[in-house]
Amino acid sequence: MNAVGQPISRVDGRLKVAGGARYTADIPLEGAAHAAIVYSTIANGRTVAIDTAGAEKAPGVLAVLTHKNMPRMNPLPWSHLRPQGQTYLPLQDDRIHYAGQPIALVVAATLDQATHAGTLIEASYETHSPTMFDLRTAKEDAIEPPQRMWPLSSSVGNADKAIADAAVRIEQVYTMSDRHHNPMEPHATSAVWDDAGTLTLYDSTQMVVGTQKLAALVLGIPEDKINVVCEYLGGGFGGKSWSWPHTLLAALAAKVVNRPVRLQLTRAQMYSMVGHQAATVQTIALGADRAGKLTGIRHDSVNPTSVFDDYVEYAALASRHLWGASGGIATGHKVVRVNRNSPVVLRAPMEAQGHFALECAMDELAYATGVDPVELRLRNDTDTDPYSGRPFSTRALRECLTKGAARFGWDKRTPEPRSMRDGRYLIGQGVAGAIFTHWRWPGKARVTLNGDGSALVEAAAHDIGTGTYTVMTQVAADALGMAPDKVTVRLGDTRLPESHPAIGSSTAANATSAVLLAARAAREKAVELALAGRDAPFAGAVSADIMVADGRLTLTKTNLNITYADLLARNGLSSLAGDGSYDPVEEVNGPKAIFSFSAVFAEVRVDPDLGLVRLNRFVGAYDAGRIINPKTSRSQAIGGIIWGVGQALLEQSETDPASGQFINRNYSGYLVPSNADIPELDVLFVGGFDEEASPLGAKGLGELTAVSVAPAIANAVYHATGKRIRDLPVTLEKLL
Ligand code: MOS
Repeated sequence: MNAVGQPISRVDGRLKVAGGARYTADIPLEGAAHAAIVYSTIANGRTVAIDTAGAEKAPGVLAVLTHKNMPRMNPLPWSHLRPQGQTYLPLQDDRIHYAGQPIALVVAATLDQATHAGTLIEASYETHSPTMFDLRTAKEDAIEPPQRMWPLSSSVGNADKAIADAAVRIEQVYTMSDRHHNPMEPHATSAVWDDAGTLTLYDSTQMVVGTQKLAALVLGIPEDKINVVCEYLGGGFGGKSWSWPHTLLAALAAKVVNRPVRLQLTRAQMYSMVGHQAATVQTIALGADRAGKLTGIRHDSVNPTSVFDDYVEYAALASRHLWGASGGIATGHKVVRVNRNSPVVLRAPMEAQGHFALECAMDELAYATGVDPVELRLRNDTDTDPYSGRPFSTRALRECLTKGAARFGWDKRTPEPRSMRDGRYLIGQGVAGAIFTHWRWPGKARVTLNGDGSALVEAAAHDIGTGTYTVMTQVAADALGMAPDKVTVRLGDTRLPESHPAIGSSTAANATSAVLLAARAAREKAVELALAGRDAPFAGAVSADIMVADGRLTLTKTNLNITYADLLARNGLSSLAGDGSYDPVEEVNGPKAIFSFSAVFAEVRVDPDLGLVRLNRFVGAYDAGRIINPKTSRSQAIGGIIWGVGQALLEQSETDPASGQFINRNYSGYLVPSNADIPELDVLFVGGFDEEASPLGAKGLGELTAVSVAPAIANAVYHATGKRIRDLPVTLEKLL
């Protein structure tokens, strides 16, 4: 039986619930010292003096490092994109660019001693007022930075003319708050130098290889003298897809004190040192005919970034690709440089923000034209990517809309706002469609057949918590013809074959395709041995006559068979390894446009007196190509929907307008959905094998499921209340 397609439970599940999975800060290190960061309370200026005398004399202290005595790092031979990281280098000069910027690092025998000594450091500042992001003036303050991942602006046809000439026009501004990642596992780094000068970083990261490359550049040592290890992640959500200053501080501190150093950020430091999702101000204009067919789309977005990195949140990306518009589509992105640390990708970056504007505007268009919101989207479906003119490889958006609507019972909805009730509660139902970028990245993997009949899969990729260990097990098992419980997967170590970061919901399609190729290579080597090795059992046959199943090779014509274990023993081999290298052409250069799709349906119950919104039920229909594991996929979808509920109703990071500091310090003030906020979630997969997307037929799934939850809920809130909320989160005061 094939393992791919089966709802196999996580192979690392038992280890995790039993406490056996070691997260970065759990890994014991002989003789480790502990480091604590002291950070700036001002957002703009410089340190005039830092008095470290008290800290140096405190018990257990091994070193107190400031910009005066910190070893020097190599400045900026990279952009924040390659390798991915905040380009500000810590403790190199007296300038302060953001509140929460490290100004000192204390290393001591214990964490308590380091933390206590840190409180004895006295800093005095020259303070300038911080540059801030103001939603009201953002558009005037914004500048066009150098191009980042995609072109900043796009124009197909003449969108402005199409909108100006349209029978029906919608033009609105949509805004949303900054948000923080809030993984349960804090960022942490343990650094160890060995006698040969090799640095090993145990780092809570979504990119061991990127962290290795960045550390090599900044520290000025060869990549092969740096190992980076991260076998398990307790949440990353994009915050761990960049390297941040604390990792570099830990590496150099360990060198200074000549001992392993462990540095774990405090929960409070997680709000100022390791990125966040930037707020966006999005302006969107739609033009359509009276039947709701789009003639033009213009979508512009502005986000704040740090003063040293131009992080662009490509919120208008979705509008380039999702719906057809006969007259043209134009988009643009700008940034405002402010005294903050750099923003970074967060739980469906770009798309989760952009679809809020686009799919709420589509709902506004539905009401303006009197066309049902599902029907409106069916009318604007397109087989051709409006941006590139290429056909989509697969696009089951129509099935997402129709099958999702059937499952939801959309036909029972009465369209008039405030027309559906449950006792004293207002009931609202909303829909949104979504498109999600399919990333294609190269990756390598190795699959080794062992003498005992087991197999080992190895790649410097990651399981960010989504089930990579499990799906790689399934893929290797099928390719080898072996039971999944005979396969072990090792990930998260730069000493393994180089692979890509766990970003952009890319791992199942890319890193796992490399595993498929490696497993096939190992199988082919075994087949060669069976045909032409020592005492070859199938001598004279051809490889097409051989099948693999249950850990053995079988000559189909005669049923003659041999196990992998016996075959290796016969050839005097303890193991046999196959290498896989998946090197796809970049998506933009391929013949087809490859994206994942969804349609999601939300029902809310709104208390008419209190403005309290509760999610009643939710249906998500997804086209993510072939589903490798329905159980881990469903779990991802549930997780993604919950993220989306947070974006829609709860999550917002607050900034003190005077000091420029993020005010959040812990979970108590940063609301995320908990069990009582989440009803039964209904998940459908409607996509099929996409041969263009990957050899496995899979497209990106995880973050797709977080996209368009917010507009579906906001549209449902409009349906329930008649109030159009264009600012996230939809908190109760906005409904009163
Ligand atoms: Mo994801 S926000 O691309 O790590």
